Amino acid sequence: MKKISKGIILAGGNGSRLYPLTLATSKQLFPLYNKPVLYYPLTTLMLAGVRDILIISTERDLPAIKNLLGTGEQFGIQCSYKAQTSPRGLPEAFILAEDFLQQQASFLILGDNFFYGHQLSSLLEQSIAVTTGAHLFLHPVDNPSAYGILETDANGCIKGIIEKPATFVSNLAITGLYIFDEQASTFAKQLQPSARGELEITDLIKHYWKQDHLTYSMLGRGYVWYDVGTPQSLLQVGNYVEILETRQGLFVASPEEIALRLGYITLDDLRKYIDKTPQCTYRHYLENLIHYAGHKNRI
Ligand code: TTP
Repeated sequence: MKKISKGIILAGGNGSRLYPLTLATSKQLFPLYNKPVLYYPLTTLMLAGVRDILIISTERDLPAIKNLLGTGEQFGIQCSYKAQTSPRGLPEAFILAEDFLQQQASFLILGDNFFYGHQLSSLLEQSIAVTTGAHLFLHPVDNPSAYGILETDANGCIKGIIEKPATFVSNLAITGLYIFDEQASTFAKQLQPSARGELEITDLIKHYWKQDHLTYSMLGRGYVWYDVGTPQSLLQVGNYVEILETRQGLFVASPEEIALRLGYITLDDLRKYIDKTPQCTYRHYLENLIHYAGHKNRI
């Protein structure tokens, strides 16, 4: 696989762990410090070079999400939308996205997932290059029994995929970022719902594993991965973003900045966008991008 131009953000779900916060709105629209949660997975896809993005959410929340992201033009990308009428599981994304994908490989990212780390873009690019089938991104966690876990042998060969293991097998959690080839929709349609009535992403992954078409990348301890699906993680990641931004003066997950740096938009495009933005810290940050553009001693 050389390049992946399509990506899916799965941003529906019940958000039951965040009740009553999610009674009236989606967790993907919550603030993660100074930006909506959705900006974080969106910019992860942009950093992977993906510019054609389908956002799947509930019928209730899609209008607000469309208000937030629009056509994506302001970020030099293309956003389209699809409703999931009930949370029937992650692989349903590929059934709903069949027309959008047009038999092409894609990234799937969960709408509440936060990724951060040095040279994440390069790691994503390298992952695309080694993928033949499906590709996972693993991250060590302290509580593996809460996640889908990958077990490997001493050579790194995949030995098992275990959903929420009761006893310790491995601390390598399967994160909510995946690459799937063009067959994902076909395979997803063949899956049967599990005992909890959902299509399971681990079943789709196992399908690729059985055919020896499953690879993975390690997001080691120099990376940060979280799902912000609980009040505690939402607060922790918000604090993390605040600390980084205050220390470095560089924003985490600003789609306008990433679009500018990747050449998806020009300085003139950004100027026009800023003109429509009220006076606020975010506007001042974008103005500084223009002010310091091309300065050789400023990242
Ligand atoms: P989860 O966090 O597993 O589920 P949830 O969002 O319903 O939250 P909770 O467990 O607290 O009830 O979902 C991961 C992401 O995938 C999240 O961004 C919501 C999204 N999702 C869908 O869009 N559709 C689905 O069918 C499922 C299961 C999840």
